[in-house]
Amino acid sequence: MRKITIAIDGYSSTGKSTLARQLAHALGYVYIDSGAMYRAVTLFAQEHGLIGEQAEAAGLEARLPEIDLRFELNPATGRSEIVLNGRNVEKQIRSLEVSSQVSQVAALGPVREKLVALQRAMGNQGGVVMDGRDIGTVVLPGADLKIFMTASPEIRASRRYKELLDRGEKVSYEAVLHNVRERDYLDSNREISPLRKAPDAIELDNSDMGLKEQFERVHAHAERLIAK
Ligand code: CDP
Repeated sequence: MRKITIAIDGYSSTGKSTLARQLAHALGYVYIDSGAMYRAVTLFAQEHGLIGEQAEAAGLEARLPEIDLRFELNPATGRSEIVLNGRNVEKQIRSLEVSSQVSQVAALGPVREKLVALQRAMGNQGGVVMDGRDIGTVVLPGADLKIFMTASPEIRASRRYKELLDRGEKVSYEAVLHNVRERDYLDSNREISPLRKAPDAIELDNSDMGLKEQFERVHAHAERLIAK
């Protein structure tokens, strides 16, 4: 059977990774979380004092060759998790502290060059679901199925707020909403590979849509393409 490539882009906290994971599981494909890679580089920069208040990321470019990123299957969860220089950082990269600087780091040209090359190498063989901001436009422009996800900022912030509370982080809803809005702005207005809907992407506003309905819709599209 034909193995297709699926690109899922969209705003922060629209549920891209949940949908991507469900699709990969249903189709027996590999899921690649490109955002986790930008988050891991941000964590590296924070841990090495390469990022100031203004996130100018001085010196990060020179240190990029020291960063080794891979995904490894965690047998306990059945999920693939990100490993930064041999250390599983899946949990740390989800903090609001990383979220608050990741969009500045992701706007840097040398960071994008390195990560896009890695993502293309991972995504080129088909049988892949990759999510992010520029997957359908830049990383895998030839993807067979492209989805662009949106929802209102307030709904996205309340979803992310619940997620962080469940993980035991002490955050306020206002701080999460501020981060959602700020990243929307930075991701959409950066010079290199800004967040855009690819012309051939299907737009999905899931403000009032449950996970099951959203999955079934996109899965049906994928099955149609696979059967072609
Ligand atoms: O989960 P959420 O949608 O909030 O974010 P993410 O997918 O983990 O991505 C975190 C950040 O990385 C985004 O806000 C972007 O600034 C950046 N990113 C990017 O620039 N390009 C990608 N392909 C993926 C993420």
